[in-house]
Amino acid sequence: MPTSDIGLEKTLAALGVTEAAQVVARFAEVRAQFDGQFQTVHDESEWKIFRDAWLGRKSGVLTLVTDNWLKPAMPELKRVVGQQLNELRAHVESQIEARRLAVESGAEEAALTRDRIDLSLPGVLRPIGSHHLIRQVFQKIEDIFFSIGFSVVEGPEIETPYYNFEALNIPEFHPVRDDMDTFYLELPKGATTPLLLRTHTSPMQIRTMEKQKPPVRVIVPGKVYRRDNPDATHSFAFHQIEGLAVDTDITFCDFTGTIEYFVKQFFGPSVKTRFRPSYFPFTEPSVEFDVSCPFCAGTGTAASGGTCSKCKGAAWIELFGAGMVDPAVYGHVNYDAKKVSGFAFGIGIDRLAMLKYGIDDIQVFFQNDVRFLRQFP
Ligand code: PHE
Repeated sequence: MPTSDIGLEKTLAALGVTEAAQVVARFAEVRAQFDGQFQTVHDESEWKIFRDAWLGRKSGVLTLVTDNWLKPAMPELKRVVGQQLNELRAHVESQIEARRLAVESGAEEAALTRDRIDLSLPGVLRPIGSHHLIRQVFQKIEDIFFSIGFSVVEGPEIETPYYNFEALNIPEFHPVRDDMDTFYLELPKGATTPLLLRTHTSPMQIRTMEKQKPPVRVIVPGKVYRRDNPDATHSFAFHQIEGLAVDTDITFCDFTGTIEYFVKQFFGPSVKTRFRPSYFPFTEPSVEFDVSCPFCAGTGTAASGGTCSKCKGAAWIELFGAGMVDPAVYGHVNYDAKKVSGFAFGIGIDRLAMLKYGIDDIQVFFQNDVRFLRQFP
């Protein structure tokens, strides 16, 4: 920190100062130099050098002024030199102290800016995804059946023809196999039992009854596979929920009452149900359940006045197949067909989801397009 050319090494006499006004001018010069240097002090290490240069006991500017200017001053100038020196010292000391405070708080501020954590910023949002609509519908249906005492079981997607067909009263060459005889697996050499992708969840009726004595009340959600060409309503893979209730005293009334309860829970209390005769080899009698169209309140006429596009004006929508368990099935699971009775149903989930949420193409369930999936968070 240079303090040059102001004659600090010399006495005032040597500098040719003989009058009070010259003394004052000299001190003004020193002070100007101080004020100039003062501007360049920004951090703590600069401040220390600056302080020592001005206040250092051995060779600080004020010491030099005292030793070289004040002490040897001519008696008539001593008073004014002393006065000037006091003023200079007061200025230097107060300014250096003020600078110290500024530098310290500046350093603190700089550290604060450097380490600042802004607690008001939102955290990092990680997208967590959501359940697929099919899974959501599964859960809705499971909740409804849980509430009336059913439990959930799951079974293999690769089945033997025995469970998928024979035990369900569908012998080889039975005509209903035509829609179902589909995805057989290539077997390892030496294996004798054919294997196929299950064509419905009904094999779990057999597997459940094999394991468990009556009473049985289960539902079976899962994937099933058929040789269907893909279009807006068909897919080679789709989803079903099987239901099975078997006990010693289950009647057709229990059956229709249960189905009606489920349908009203799922579509709302104002829908009506009806059943029509149908045929499945493993139920007798077999029925097809319909629901009054929830979109046109069972009128067949849309709110706009035209034909309801959901039920095509029929006022009813076909829902799913069901029936009382055929006594022939009990024979395969060691249940006494004279003592027990029960009902079974097989709900197509994709169809139900399409109906409920107004989806017109089953393929969207399998395409994993987030623009579709995000509509069902
Ligand atoms: N398994 C039948 C199907 O997939 C549906 C069904 C299940 C019918 C249970 C009656 C009883 O078509």
